Amino acid sequence: MPNEFELSKGGANHQKPKGDDDIMTTAQGHPVADDQNWLSAGPRGAQLLEDHIAREKIFHFDHERIPERVVHARGYGVHGHFELKKAIPEYSRAAIFNEVGEKTPTFTRFSTVAGNKGSPDLARDVRGFATKFYTKEGNWDLVGNNIPVFFIQDAIKFPDLIHAAKPAPDRGFPQAQTAHDNFWDFVSLSPESMNMIMWIMSDRTIPRSFRFMEGFGVHTFRLVSEKGESHFVKFHWKPKLGLQSVVWNEALKVNGMDPDFHRRDMWDAIEAGDFPQWDLGIQVFDENFAEQFEFDVLDATKIIPEERVPVEIIGTLTLDANVDNFFAETEQVAFCTQNIVPGIDHSDDPLLQGRNFSYLDTQLKRLGSPNFTHIPINAPKCPVRHFQQDGHMAMTNPKGRANYEPNSWGDTNNPIEQRGPRACPTRGFESYRAEVSGPKMRTRSETFADHYSQARQFYISQTPVEQTHMANALTFELSKCDRADIRERMVGHLRHIDEGLAQEVADGLGLLELPDKVPAARDPITDLPESPALSIIRNGPGSFRGRKLGIYIA
Ligand code: HEM
Repeated sequence: MPNEFELSKGGANHQKPKGDDDIMTTAQGHPVADDQNWLSAGPRGAQLLEDHIAREKIFHFDHERIPERVVHARGYGVHGHFELKKAIPEYSRAAIFNEVGEKTPTFTRFSTVAGNKGSPDLARDVRGFATKFYTKEGNWDLVGNNIPVFFIQDAIKFPDLIHAAKPAPDRGFPQAQTAHDNFWDFVSLSPESMNMIMWIMSDRTIPRSFRFMEGFGVHTFRLVSEKGESHFVKFHWKPKLGLQSVVWNEALKVNGMDPDFHRRDMWDAIEAGDFPQWDLGIQVFDENFAEQFEFDVLDATKIIPEERVPVEIIGTLTLDANVDNFFAETEQVAFCTQNIVPGIDHSDDPLLQGRNFSYLDTQLKRLGSPNFTHIPINAPKCPVRHFQQDGHMAMTNPKGRANYEPNSWGDTNNPIEQRGPRACPTRGFESYRAEVSGPKMRTRSETFADHYSQARQFYISQTPVEQTHMANALTFELSKCDRADIRERMVGHLRHIDEGLAQEVADGLGLLELPDKVPAARDPITDLPESPALSIIRNGPGSFRGRKLGIYIA
């Protein structure tokens, strides 16, 4: 009997009847005579456990679910390619950044952070924007978001942030209707979250579709040249279609009408040949330049202002193929910040360092085996040679050659295949030789202490309409918070950001008096010199002004 599995775009096995031969089989390939009636003793008789066909069918169904991602559970994946437009050998030796015109295959998964797999697409939430580049030198994963900053500076706080944001463990839903006391309690006690709060209360967290969102690598990474020189870099995705959002009452209606709105939009656009594109931009600066900033470039709650370090466009991502197998591709794809290629390196950003541990750890549980790189969507599209073997679901093993090193099989009398691969100091990955020293301690540097300046800069860079949306969003979300002291503490933070905004939210919440400012290490209004305006923040191509209101509501 011919094998009716063929490879999908993601390389995964995919069932499709071929020719006339459509006889059903079990997973073992046994032809099936009847899969609708369980074998029984007589027409009304007891069901017989003997029925291996029925048992196999039920057994497999029982195991269809795997754990959903602990965050970013709801996502949508699309195939595409990245084309390099400008080589940057002066910054990076990575092959993907050196061959202009080269097309590198990619897989991108967009997601919401807090909702479960079945949650609606237009929740007010950060959107994940994760891209796997299948480069000639192995997979590079740029695991970013549509917001350039993050809630926390240190990965050790991530479980607390997510516990506070997700449904309460006793009842399985947030305490209040849409926002909840736990989330606002956590952030109001975490001043480092204030910049992120300004961004998530803006229209960016209710995007019109995935196609109209920016993306950011968030952290400061390193680029390392052939000469071993390092520059810091921030990665940006700029959508060719521009940046557009819906307004809050549209989001509510869309969620009710079509909770799959964003994934349907992406599917339809690609099926229609309307392939969305993003330019990849980089902000590159050296360590001496980094010293001049009034904040720390290792702090993921900060952006690098574009007027001080312009974004240089170096290539374009085109998404041009939907998945054939949602589970095999979108669900089983495993992105990880530690997947980097020679020429790209990590920085000492404490959030990034924690992420490097977390993804691999959770994926072992979620996908069930250290061999998840054998799943086609995760497998590199370049040769893979190592001494790993066995384990659950192992699809490949060293064959006909040594499976350990050092070994002496590769001497001049033996063919090279017998000794297996050798590490290569010139082409292999080498960590940038950054100096590492210092006492072990748990105290964060003073350079991470200013939590309000960029939050203020973001707010004042918005148009009056956008500022009103932010004030309304804060008022709405905080009005769902039952505890008055939490609401007041949040307004006490807003006073460091903008007194007018604080007053507007206080009025909206019906507070009779403006609460005291929360004690702060630094207040941009009273303690800091005026910072340069951040025009960056709303200057995506097309900007919010391209938004068409109401077109999605019948
Ligand atoms: C998943 C982004 C911080 C742990 C994801 C995904 C994205 C993302 C886009 C979804 C990947 C996919 O589509 O499969 C970010 C960004 C962060 C951040 C931009 C901050 C700048 C963190 C931190 C931790 C963390 C600090 C933990 C210490 C996880 C975990 C998953 C995840 C466990 C699920 C991975 C999986 O099951 O495959 N993150 N994240 N993230 N993130 Fe993060």
